[in-house]
Parts: sequence; structure tokens; C-alpha cells
Amino acid sequence: MQFRSGIGLLALTFPSLIGAISSSPLSTSGRWIVDSDGNNVTYAGANWPGAEVAMLPEGLQYQSIEYIVGKLKDLGMNVIRLTFAIEMIDDIYENGADVPIKTSLINALGETNGTKIYEDIVANNPQFGENTTRLEVYDAVATECYNQGIYVHLDNHVSKASWCCSTTDGNAWFGDTYFNVSNWHRGWRYMAEHVKSLPAVKSIGMRNELRSPDDDTTLADTSYNWDNWYTNMVENANQVHEVNSDLLLFFSGLDYDTTLSPIPTASNLGNSTYFKKSDFSFADKIVLELHNYDSSATSCSSLSSSLLTDGFDALETDDSSIVNVLPVVMTEFGYEQDDTTYTEVYASCLREWLPSEHAGWMIWVLSGSYYIRQGIQDYDETWGLLDHTWSDWRSTEAIENGIIPMVEASLG
Ligand SMILES: *[C@@H]1O[C@H](CO)[C@@H](O)[C@H](O)[C@H]1NC(C)=O
Ligand SMILES: *[C@@H]1O[C@H](CO)[C@@H](O)[C@H](O)[C@H]1NC(C)=O
Ligand SMILES: *[C@@H]1O[C@H](CO)[C@@H](O)[C@H](O)[C@H]1NC(C)=O
Ligand SMILES: *[C@@H]1O[C@H](CO)[C@@H](O)[C@H](O)[C@H]1NC(C)=O
Ligand SMILES: *[C@@H]1O[C@H](CO)[C@@H](O)[C@H](O)[C@H]1NC(C)=O
Repeated sequence: MQFRSGIGLLALTFPSLIGAISSSPLSTSGRWIVDSDGNNVTYAGANWPGAEVAMLPEGLQYQSIEYIVGKLKDLGMNVIRLTFAIEMIDDIYENGADVPIKTSLINALGETNGTKIYEDIVANNPQFGENTTRLEVYDAVATECYNQGIYVHLDNHVSKASWCCSTTDGNAWFGDTYFNVSNWHRGWRYMAEHVKSLPAVKSIGMRNELRSPDDDTTLADTSYNWDNWYTNMVENANQVHEVNSDLLLFFSGLDYDTTLSPIPTASNLGNSTYFKKSDFSFADKIVLELHNYDSSATSCSSLSSSLLTDGFDALETDDSSIVNVLPVVMTEFGYEQDDTTYTEVYASCLREWLPSEHAGWMIWVLSGSYYIRQGIQDYDETWGLLDHTWSDWRSTEAIENGIIPMVEASLG
């Protein structure tokens, strides 16, 4: 564990230099994300969920925000993907104010358990109280990340708060049961303005895992296509950029964000629509994001070649068929945090391939448990880097041999 003790020693010697991130925005240059000095920035981090029905970043009934961010820091990571539900912003518009966390927890967990979890959160995080709202907790997470030198990538995970994702959950596609497009735009305008005071927030994921809205076959048949993807995503990018021109804007793809295949080559998206980086006045703010959970992969060469055709080929600067050279970040992938799964083809392949491509990544998931997931309170997350009580690693082996080497290969 030379890596971790090395970090500790440096932190002791130069506390003010460690982990500092600039307050200046990031942008892109070709296939790279770059800081304001032109240095390459590769994201290497983890997902921190907050879009389930409590609409709060998870884990605070067990640990302080400072402790949890410190655990990421111990891994050498430099980013969190922090997820939120548009419903949180809808509530602000409907009530004229955000909901206090105590109310939100009682709504999600019932009077007895909600009150208990609220009290546990305040015991660990005494800066919070009766009047603390959900968004203030997001702000506290982003502020602590800034203090510890961790970037925040803010992700709109769902519209109606819930576990994500299925094709029939009503959150799947523009115009689906709960996916009101004007509320989505409104929510993003609100957040784009709001995060101006949070210098850790450098980038946003406009929408997580778009997918066929199979609860509404008419909508699926008439609207689930790349042409409508373009219209909706570009409209959102334009309006966010108008409100806050600092943010990097991540475009996710179709089929649960497993494919962006027509984008790097600027292929016809249907109805003579083409995604061309050169059409955007803010071309240096555009990033692509993909997810992959192909855990049954049997060879790294086939997994990596399919990732390239799924959209990672936007990183290929020497391929003349690539019209849109862009950074691509794998914002979700993950596996059971036990003592063996990290050795299998899927995990070992991504551990080597993503750093070798200098592609950023965020593993699913930091959380050891959830306030509530899919109706089950205190749900144990076997894919969590952290254990149930967010106090230590779930599998020290998976961390030491699976995660830390990947961070070092990306950032070292
Ligand atoms: C970014 O990384 C690439 C590949 O390692 C390198 O060619 C380029 O010079 C780097 N840019 C800077 C500013 O370090
Ligand atoms: C919460 O807000 C109410 C109303 O503004 C105020 O009376 C109360 O003192 C506040 N409670 C705390 C703990 O700040
Ligand atoms: C979307 O929500 C707005 C309220 O913000 C409402 O006026 C509108 O009718 C909704 N649109 C659809 C298609 O349900
Ligand atoms: C094709 O695009 C035109 C112009 O933007 C639009 O009016 C028409 O509805 C689109 N057709 C389809 C099938 O999407
Ligand atoms: C409330 O919490 C207790 C203790 O953790 C748990 O046993 C119970 O199932 C919870 N109630 C509900 C409705 O989940």
C-alpha cells in the first residue's frame, strides 16, 4: 500500500497543495478534457447516488460527508458522479421552496424510520438540522469535494425519483409517463444557475440511460430514435450553456447509454439530421458518455472492439472516418465487490483498457447501502466499494488489486 501511505505523507507535508482543484472551468481540446492551463484532465472516480425516493446523497446516516469524501481521496480518485432526480427541482417550483431533509426522509421511509434516519444524519453531520433542505445537502457534498480536491459531475439520473432503470419505469424517454421534457429543461436551467456557486461542479450528465419507453408502445414506435435524441439533447445543451457557459456537457446515448455509435462518424441520424461538433458554438464543452455492464464478456479484445464501435472511437484522432473527435467517459460500469469478481474478464479488461485509452471513468458504485432502494429500507449494495455502514471497504482485495491499480494507471 505504498500508494496510499505516499499520499498521506504528502498531505501531511503540504496540506494546502494536496488535492487542490482550480476554480476555473474545464473545457475540451480534441479528445482530451483540459483545465484552464491546458493540462489533460482524466476523470477517475465513483458514482454517489442521490436519486432514489429520499432524494438525498446516500450514506449520511452512517458517516459524515467529510469522511466519505476522504475515502474517495484515499483511493486517489478525482471525481464523483453525483446523481439527482428532476422531481427535487419540480418540488421547489411547486412549493416555492425545497423540502427539508427530515420531511423528505419521512415521506420516503415513514414517520418512525424517517425520523430516526434524520437524527442519525444530523448526529454524523451536525451542520445539518430541522431546516436543512435536500439541495443544501448536495451543496455540502460539492463544497466538501472542492475542499478535498474532488471534481463533481452532476448527473440527472431520473425524472421521478426512484431506482433506475427499466424500459417500463416511466422515466425512460422524452415524453414518457414521468419524463416531462419541459420540466427536465426547467430543472437543468435551475441547476445550471445553482451550481455557479459550487466550483467543484465542472460537468453535467444531461440524462442517464435513455431507453425505449416500453410502457407506451406508441411513444416507443414513433419517437424512440436518434433524430429525436438529437433534437432533445441539443435543445437541452443549448439552454444549459446559455445559463452557465462553464459546464462541460455530457451527451449519453441510447439503449441504456450503451451506444453512441452514429455520433463519432457523424452518420445520418434519420431525417437528414447529423451530429456535427463544428455546428456548436460551444464545441469545446461537449463530452460523450457511455455505460457498460457486459459482465459476461469472454475476451477483452471483443469487449474493447465493441466499445470502440459503440462510441469510444470518438477518441481515435488518427482515423479519418471519425468526424467528431471528442472525449469519451465511461460514467458507469461495475461489479460485485468481493474477493474474486475483479479478476474476471470484464473487470480486468476495463481496468486495463480504459486507462490505456486515456478514457475517464466512474465506477458504479460508492454506496455500501441505500436509505431505501426499490422499496427496501437500508438496502445492502453488494456492488458498493464501501461496506454497509460506509465505514470501510467492502472487499479490501477488490480495492487493492482492482480499484487502486486502475486509478494509478489512469492518473499516475
Ligand atoms: C495530453 O496527453 C497526451 C497523451 O499522453 C499528450 O500527447 C499531450 O501532450 C498531453 N497534453 C498535455 C498538455 O500534457
Ligand atoms: C427553522 O426555521 C424556523 C422558521 O424559520 C425557525 O423558527 C427555527 O428556529 C429554525 N430551526 C433551526 C434549528 O434553525
Ligand atoms: C409538464 O409539466 C408542466 C408543469 O411544469 C405542465 O404544465 C405540462 O402540461 C406538462 N407536460 C406534459 C406533456 O405533461
Ligand atoms: C423531419 O424534419 C422536419 C424539419 O425539421 C420536420 O418538420 C419533420 O417532422 C421531421 N420528420 C420526421 C419523421 O421526424
Ligand atoms: C424500519 O426500520 C427497521 C429497523 O431498521 C426495519 O426493521 C423496518 O423494516 C423498517 N420499516 C420499513 C417499513 O421498512
